[in-house]
Amino acid sequence: MAEQFDVTIIGSGPGGYVCAIRAAQLGMRVAVVERRSTHGGTCLNVGCIPSKALLHTSELFAEAAHSFAKMGINVSPSFDLAKMMVFKQEAIDANTKGVDFLLKKNKVTVVQGTGKILGTGKVDVAGQQIATKNIVIATGSDVTKLKGIAIDEKQIVSSTGALELAKVPGHLAIIGAGVIGLELGSVYARLGAKVTVIEYLDRILPGMDLEVAKNFQRLLQKQGFAFRLASKVMSATKSKAGVSLAIEPAAGGAAEALEAECVLVAVGRTPFTNGLGCDEAGIRRDTKGRIEVGDHFETSLRGVYAIGDVIRGPMLAHKAEDEGAALAELLAGQAGHVNYDVIPGVVYTSPEVASVGNTEEELKAAGIDYKVGKFFFLANGRAKANQKTDGFVKILANARSDRVLGAHIIAVAAGELIHEIAVLMEFGGSSEDLARICHAHPTLSEAVKEAAMAVAGRSIHS
Ligand code: NAI
Repeated sequence: MAEQFDVTIIGSGPGGYVCAIRAAQLGMRVAVVERRSTHGGTCLNVGCIPSKALLHTSELFAEAAHSFAKMGINVSPSFDLAKMMVFKQEAIDANTKGVDFLLKKNKVTVVQGTGKILGTGKVDVAGQQIATKNIVIATGSDVTKLKGIAIDEKQIVSSTGALELAKVPGHLAIIGAGVIGLELGSVYARLGAKVTVIEYLDRILPGMDLEVAKNFQRLLQKQGFAFRLASKVMSATKSKAGVSLAIEPAAGGAAEALEAECVLVAVGRTPFTNGLGCDEAGIRRDTKGRIEVGDHFETSLRGVYAIGDVIRGPMLAHKAEDEGAALAELLAGQAGHVNYDVIPGVVYTSPEVASVGNTEEELKAAGIDYKVGKFFFLANGRAKANQKTDGFVKILANARSDRVLGAHIIAVAAGELIHEIAVLMEFGGSSEDLARICHAHPTLSEAVKEAAMAVAGRSIHS
């Protein structure tokens, strides 16, 4: 059969749709196969975008309820959860329609259905065969299930069900102190739920800089979060009133009951390869179910590539996007590239937590001699004016070369502030380079400059 397409991409999440658009820009004939009726994958439909809409509305409510009066603004706010959900849906629709528009604009052929790989150059969608030069797997990930705890998306929910709750639970128990648990926990804590987070490890946010995680945990506790660290959930028993969780110390010991109205299971995500036909086609996966790829994203089957959550690396939309663009460029004979050392990570709570590059723990483990520069927002003029002084900027630089190796920020706008350090790191910049760049006053960004100055012990305001 003659090839209809240069590239057929399975999955239209951030990895898949970006790969499709970039490939079309480079002159390729592109098809996208998507099983959902809307594009954008988990991120736009049931992940990043809806959660950010609920984080936004709940934060405004909490501000109005707790912070306006001291600023001289008198209001008596109440909220309507159903309307908040409509606002959230509008955010989803605006984004998924945007992707529709972009795919059309770039003349990408869209095929709705589940794609199955029959071999190099052959994809089946419900009996219809697509002949294509290259195939890209961009099927993302799914919620990791916890043994013995059946998700019903009503009383025991995954992140998907937690975005759809009909009422704010009196007590929300969250299993897993990762990004999803802390973001969605923040939404419902702000709306009045008691929130208890049960975490297997003895810390929250594994992988983040430990000092940052500990400080952030204290801030969340001030917001009413309760944490049960080093604990494991053994079982969940449902009743009309709610769910009873049996919790044991992670190291073993007597079980205790924890009663909650609703339970959110947020213990990670698993690569999604169902129905793809990987085994039959000879596409190898590792022990974690991730599709194995080489440096240029090619799988063990010639002409079949994989990007995003389904391969190694952080499960982040922007990592998938960059891989999608890089792969399209490689397929066009260009030098597509992703720098895995400079991928920012952001937790969109209040304050936000953002990081890029190495943590202190990683530098210690690698035996790298480093210096630390830290600056607290308590000493930043703009943060003081806004009464948003929680948090700090921490910059890690090589002790000999002064090259910046990592940065970690807790701040209201940490997710925006982190990017100037990502840019600096991409250019191989030093803390002195950053310290000598004029930053506008009064801005939160001045704290980034001051942290860079603090690496050499010459911060002015601390
Ligand atoms: P995660 O990997 O961030 O955190 C899961 C947490 O659950 C870990 O702290 C882990 O130690 C704990 N855990 C695992 N098994 C457990 C058990 N049996 N009992 C108690 N605790 C247990 O996973 P999460 O939060 O589910 O997020 C999934 C993925 O989605 C992550 O890769 C995350 O990066 C991504 N994501 C990113 C967001 C962002 O960038 N803002 C937002 C939401 C998700």
